[in-house]
Amino acid sequence: MANTKITRYICSECGYTTTTKTGKCPSCGSWGTFEILQEAKSELPSQNQLPNVKIISALEVKPPQRIATGIDEFDRVLGGGLVPGGVVLIGGQPGIGKSTLLLQAAGSVAEKSGSPVLYISGEESDAQIALRASRINTASEKLYLYSGTNLEDALRNVEGGKFSFIVLDSVQAMTTGNDAGWPGTMTQVRAVAQRVIDCAREHNIPIVMIGHITKDGKIAGPMILEHMVDTVLNFSGEGYSSYRMLRAVKNRYGSTDELGVFEMGEEGLMPVSDKSGLYWNRDDSAVAGVAMTIALEGNTPLAAEIQTLAVRTIFQYPRRTSRGIELNRFQLLTAVIDRRCSISTSNHDLYINVAGGLSLQDPSADLPSCAAIASALKNVPLEAGTCWLGEVGLAGEVRPVTRIDLRLKEAARLGFHTAVVSSRENVKFNGIKIVRVKNINGALSGLSSMKP
Ligand code: TYD
Ligand code: MG
Repeated sequence: MANTKITRYICSECGYTTTTKTGKCPSCGSWGTFEILQEAKSELPSQNQLPNVKIISALEVKPPQRIATGIDEFDRVLGGGLVPGGVVLIGGQPGIGKSTLLLQAAGSVAEKSGSPVLYISGEESDAQIALRASRINTASEKLYLYSGTNLEDALRNVEGGKFSFIVLDSVQAMTTGNDAGWPGTMTQVRAVAQRVIDCAREHNIPIVMIGHITKDGKIAGPMILEHMVDTVLNFSGEGYSSYRMLRAVKNRYGSTDELGVFEMGEEGLMPVSDKSGLYWNRDDSAVAGVAMTIALEGNTPLAAEIQTLAVRTIFQYPRRTSRGIELNRFQLLTAVIDRRCSISTSNHDLYINVAGGLSLQDPSADLPSCAAIASALKNVPLEAGTCWLGEVGLAGEVRPVTRIDLRLKEAARLGFHTAVVSSRENVKFNGIKIVRVKNINGALSGLSSMKP
């Protein structure tokens, strides 16, 4: 009988399988990613025989021992610190401060733990790193540098070094294996990552790898890279601002809800502990068209200032422009105000902006946006010291928001005296006067009766 075994190929990017090897994957569009699929042989054990499984409830519960870097904002996002044997991948735009953050962390661990830390740099020369180290004042004698792109050569130090922490800058700059190829190619990035993970597990050392990102914000390299590591962090910031945000996208050892904020200064990255101050002008005088809210970034409450401007239109169709709030959402809320509060919007161009460049996706920004729009149209300021927390539906109803307790606590801490919330909100809180409203008309009744 003829041999009927068919060779199958799998795309290393998306897992698409085919019997015809092509240059471009028809599923995800990647080039040169097909490999021969090795079919796994399955040998099923006979019934009632489970030779290599365990009962989960009988396993010993051991929380991971963590190594704090001493940089609180970084440790919090990691879930309490680095985990020995765990591998973290941190991505971000060029120049955002990835190397600075990790050099600070490496210096801090070396100083605190007293055991050696290895910084592997495939990107910069000794002089460049020495200059950065002096800017950020890392003077630890336990901080070692390997500069070069050969990963095997770099990791040879690990055998005799007893390192407590390793940084790899960056996963795209290194090469490994005999058929080295160009650094940064799909196969090289994957091989480097696998080698780093093996090293971390074998020596029980935490390793942080820095990763470049592509134009659309994803980490450059195969998609599988993010699955291979334990934690993926994203370091971001706006070009014009010196603030930098650190968020976990994936975390096997902690939550992904924490936000770390830093400010890039003359001496490196400084932690910012009062995050609410970032986006708030803290002006007590009330201005028409401005409403305050407490937004949530993961688990971090942030005071946000929503500003609206209404200008009599000279066009046939009034303009609607938004920044920080999705334009469709803004148009929808404008329509709700027009219809449900009897406040005419059709003669005015409307502009909405969230101060400080913050972008709000949280539906709790609906009620403050509506309050700001109505206040701008009527040219009547809202009461100072009041924050607005609610989602608004098309019927004009005001709905509850998530984590109201956390938001009210932050509002009280920041000195707000009143919070306007949904009547369906089931919360008791003493620090602040709570005004419950059923619908948007009720919430803005004072304004809608006033003449513009
Ligand atoms: P860097 O850490 O090299 O960024 P990345 O590794 O993400 O590419 O940071 C580069 C920028 O940070 C550079 O433009 C200079 C600035 N910087 C400061 O403003 N202050 C400092 O103390 C340091 C070290 C860098
Ligand atoms: Mg760098």
